[in-house]
Amino acid sequence: MSDERKIPAHVAIILDGNGRWAKQKGMPRNYGHLQGAKAVEAILYDADELGIKYLTVYAFSTENWNRPDGEVTALMEILAKYLKSSLKKSMKNNVRCRIIGERTRLNATINKAIDDLEEATKDNTGLTFTIAINYGGRDEIVRAVRKIAEDVKTGNLEPEAISEAMISSNLDTAGLPDPDLMIRTCGEQRISNFLVWQLAYTEFYYTDIAWPDFNRAELEKAIDAYNKRTRRFGGLVKGEE
Ligand code: IPE
Ligand code: IPE
Ligand code: MG
Repeated sequence: MSDERKIPAHVAIILDGNGRWAKQKGMPRNYGHLQGAKAVEAILYDADELGIKYLTVYAFSTENWNRPDGEVTALMEILAKYLKSSLKKSMKNNVRCRIIGERTRLNATINKAIDDLEEATKDNTGLTFTIAINYGGRDEIVRAVRKIAEDVKTGNLEPEAISEAMISSNLDTAGLPDPDLMIRTCGEQRISNFLVWQLAYTEFYYTDIAWPDFNRAELEKAIDAYNKRTRRFGGLVKGEE
């Protein structure tokens, strides 16, 4: 099967279960986040080797600020460290990095790390790796609508001219194809405000494996499941007419 296996171009992942994974081991939740960051690093290179062109991971949602201060602080520190250490590795592996989400609420250290990473890797031509930080699908749509509304207000845009393509190009993900496959780990079957516009026709795959245990074999299982799906996009496929 592996020969004719279709590799999804864009895989999006809701990395969930770091806290439960740690708790199950009698460790603090933040230990789970640390191991979760390591799992992200590993899966990025597995995805690249498998031929995935775009990998998008949900690292911190607009709702995750509701967690205890200590956990939010730890997550921000882990993210800052991750972004910094990614620069060299991304250059070595020709990976282009991009961060989506609302930037003003992120601290100066993270903002600087994001700027450095995006700038350094912008001309890389390999896998595009997108990290969602302070990201909410609804927030992203609100920000896009505001940008479009400005053009209407100044008289540069007729409301009738607003199209799906225009909305897409005003989202943080502008230029990225919609995900083909969305994976969520650790049993939860919901999108928790991830890519609400972009997932319209994405195939969903859920696994009980907690994020820190997710590895190449699990990714291959998800790809195998994807290969068994029939994508119709509202139409019919050959043989169904
Ligand atoms: C995913 O793991 C990481 C983030 C959401 C930041 P969780 O922290 O949600 O872990 P659980 O779901 O509580 O186990
Ligand atoms: C979704 O996970 C957000 C991220 C993975 C960053 P959560 O753990 O925050 O989602 P809920 O609260 O279980 O829906
Ligand atoms: Mg969770």
